[in-house]
Amino acid sequence: MVKVNENYGKLPGSYLFSEVARRIAAYTAAHPEANIIKLSIGDVTRPLAPAVIEAMHQAVEEMGTFEGFHGYGPEQGYPFLREAIAQFDYRERGVDIKPEEIFVSDGAKSDCGNIGDIFGVDNKVAVCDPVYPVYVDTNAMAGRAGEYQEETGRWSNLIYMPCVEENGFAPVPPKERADIIYLCFPNNPTGSMATREQLQQWVDYANANGSVILYDSAYEAFITGPDIPHSIFEIEGARTCAIEFRSFSKTAGFTGNRCAYTVVPMELERSGVKLNAMWNRRQTTKFNGVPYVVQRGAAAIYTPQGRQQIMESISYYQRNAQVIREGLTQAGLECFGGVNAPYIWLKTPDRMGSWDFFDLVLDRANVAITPGVGFGPSGEGYVRLTAFGDAQATCQAVERIRKML
Ligand code: MLT
Repeated sequence: MVKVNENYGKLPGSYLFSEVARRIAAYTAAHPEANIIKLSIGDVTRPLAPAVIEAMHQAVEEMGTFEGFHGYGPEQGYPFLREAIAQFDYRERGVDIKPEEIFVSDGAKSDCGNIGDIFGVDNKVAVCDPVYPVYVDTNAMAGRAGEYQEETGRWSNLIYMPCVEENGFAPVPPKERADIIYLCFPNNPTGSMATREQLQQWVDYANANGSVILYDSAYEAFITGPDIPHSIFEIEGARTCAIEFRSFSKTAGFTGNRCAYTVVPMELERSGVKLNAMWNRRQTTKFNGVPYVVQRGAAAIYTPQGRQQIMESISYYQRNAQVIREGLTQAGLECFGGVNAPYIWLKTPDRMGSWDFFDLVLDRANVAITPGVGFGPSGEGYVRLTAFGDAQATCQAVERIRKML
């Protein structure tokens, strides 16, 4: 009889956003008249930039000709896109990243999950609490997380780094030695940002301990402050200890288009092996590359028109973040994030439980949000709101929550 991966059996319940969707669907089925405004999953709502559409149209036309047809592309991404990323996302900001260090993929979520393939099962993994659930669940699936403990909502083998109001929702390196460290800035879910000094502490810790930092900067485009690092590679010493994940999803509205990339520097070696070579081996074996048409669309965001157009969408979402933050603060709620990030981390009134507040807001205001505890035990008593909605609907949602209060 075949043996299944028993680690799956240890996973509690369903994936957070599936559970949120299930509850919204159940509520809608029971209240078909309800007009639910969704500020739950961070999915973009603005259409693709005209420059992206034009580039994709052209690429489709090319695909219809013998000369322009593209079959399997390079698994690592087409040179035109890797070169544009190296130039505009890094060199222009004074960071030397080479195209060979960039691996184009179908999503930061997949890469954050798949990167575990190149690490041994015995590594000690450190995660923020609260945290994007993909980091925890994929380590649990791989057998690195140990056992799930119902009472604490934690996995026995993971190191949890509480991100709470007292530390500005940015963790400090743990006393215990961590081999693999997941950091996400701008942070999902709290919307916090780490300073250059804080990131330097992490890089120094990782280099001193032989650890690897897995740095998720999928929300980098939302950084507003001039001195805030956009990339871990702006930090001295990061090339020998960090891997960075970036995505076109939130930057350019590609959630339905699927395109992202991962940077693995050539200098990053562990156990005498270059992780760039290992990731290349993994990708060439298990991944066949992102469609040519999609990569052409992604490359168009680096043209002058493309850049301007995606900035307009980002500003639109940033205005939504401001509306949520200011509107709910005026209503007497405590809000965090939403300045350098598209997420607002809201403290529930009267220490109400996250799921209770989720249900209340869904029922009384017909607004769907995300319960903070779904991101980890330290998220209890918080909820997350996304700024990726339609502007009018966002204003309406804030108004409804204010009235409800
Ligand atoms: C979120 O809501 O946290 C994100 O949309 C999830 C994702 O990007 O996979």
